[in-house]
Amino acid sequence: MTTNIISRPIPQTNRQTLLVCFMAALAGLLFGLDMGVIAGALPFLAQEFGLSSHQQEMVVSVMMLGAALGALCSGPLCTRIGRKKTLLIGAALFVAGSIGCAFAPDLQILIVSRFLLGAAVGVASFVAPLYLSEIAPEHIRGSMISLYQLMITIGILAAFLSDTAFSQSGNWRWMLGIITFPALVLFGGVLTLPESPRWLMMKNKSELAEKVLLLLRSTKADAHIELEAIRQSVQMKQRGWQLFRANSNFRRSTCLGVLLQFMQQFTGMTVIMYYAPKIFAIAGFASTQQQMWGTVIAGLTNVLATFIAIGLVDRWGRKPILKLGFSVMAICMTLMGWMFFTGISSLTQQYVAVTLLLIFIVGFAMSAGPLIWVLCSEIQPLAGRDFGVTCSTMANWIANMIIGATFLTLIDTIGSAGTFWLYAALNVVCIVLTLIFVPETKNISLENIEKNLMAGLPLRSIGNPR
Ligand code: BGC
Repeated sequence: MTTNIISRPIPQTNRQTLLVCFMAALAGLLFGLDMGVIAGALPFLAQEFGLSSHQQEMVVSVMMLGAALGALCSGPLCTRIGRKKTLLIGAALFVAGSIGCAFAPDLQILIVSRFLLGAAVGVASFVAPLYLSEIAPEHIRGSMISLYQLMITIGILAAFLSDTAFSQSGNWRWMLGIITFPALVLFGGVLTLPESPRWLMMKNKSELAEKVLLLLRSTKADAHIELEAIRQSVQMKQRGWQLFRANSNFRRSTCLGVLLQFMQQFTGMTVIMYYAPKIFAIAGFASTQQQMWGTVIAGLTNVLATFIAIGLVDRWGRKPILKLGFSVMAICMTLMGWMFFTGISSLTQQYVAVTLLLIFIVGFAMSAGPLIWVLCSEIQPLAGRDFGVTCSTMANWIANMIIGATFLTLIDTIGSAGTFWLYAALNVVCIVLTLIFVPETKNISLENIEKNLMAGLPLRSIGNPR
């Protein structure tokens, strides 16, 4: 039986569900904190340990390596021990990594600790959206996964602010160590979470799955309809890699997930998050003070604009918001490129450039930022979900590394204008790809999406009501 919400009135959301979703979304906060914190800490720890540029690059990038590996291990782990225990391991790694960074006596321990943090980020970026997609009722699923992205952006902003506060004293150990506290809150929070009913059904624990659904859904009827739909989709026996080799429909959804994450990274947003001060410098803001505050404003804009997505995702749907977001980003990148090309000489031009940058951030935060995570966790069939989401999350980190490692080289070779125009062109490509491949999954149950996919419908139609 398909639980297509269009044919039923929208149910009330139970408070317990919201609390559970909030706790799981906390993993995003840690993701953001760890991504944002290093920019401010790096100059101080480089000074204390006397690090070369190469060693500094290692301190930064070892985290992405850890994240890619963390995401890779999360899939099999999640299938075997469940979503909750995997998230708990992620939270423990956050605690261990943060303490390790704060007390690191030398470069080696610092690198190992950053690697652990990366693994934690990889696990969190894999399990949290997956868990949220499986636990949230379909009429608020988009908003709940977007809540995870909101937490990422709050984490990035909090890291920028804490870096700014501790930069007075130059105490990098506190900058990195303070993250231990939210990591402990996450650990405690995850202990209280119920296991995902979909995973429980996969493990033949239907009584437990029923208990969880009765706790999380407003009416018994809702819980039982969902349980029945899950029971049907669990019947497919193959798993992960086996399913990938045997089933071309699953190969299509896996490739779509990978493509979506590449699209998110190739918008250019990550570059702005990693190199914001440098971009403010290119726009003519010379003092560190100006660049620092500019970065905080960029972080704040990112947080606020994510609310737009949370409000709209389950009403407008995924596709129109994505098209709008990519268009806004393409236009801003083109205009910023044009300004860098003609030169920024007056104060007015400086402010115009910053305004364009902020509008770009709004474009990302209201669309590709949250919606790519939403779509990636919705499009995979249950029997291969862990494998499919592993591939897409890995793709996020690989693309993230490529983008982070090429930005400065691009600026040096094709110039600032050329680099921004390149990203503008990539955003146009994203609009075309959205039109061709991206499905609308608003208000459609995961089981319905799965049936359409497995029936061989074109990817852009797998969200059609049956
Ligand atoms: C992306 C990150 C990005 C962040 C910005 C996340 O969804 O995966 O790469 O830096 O959003 O808010």
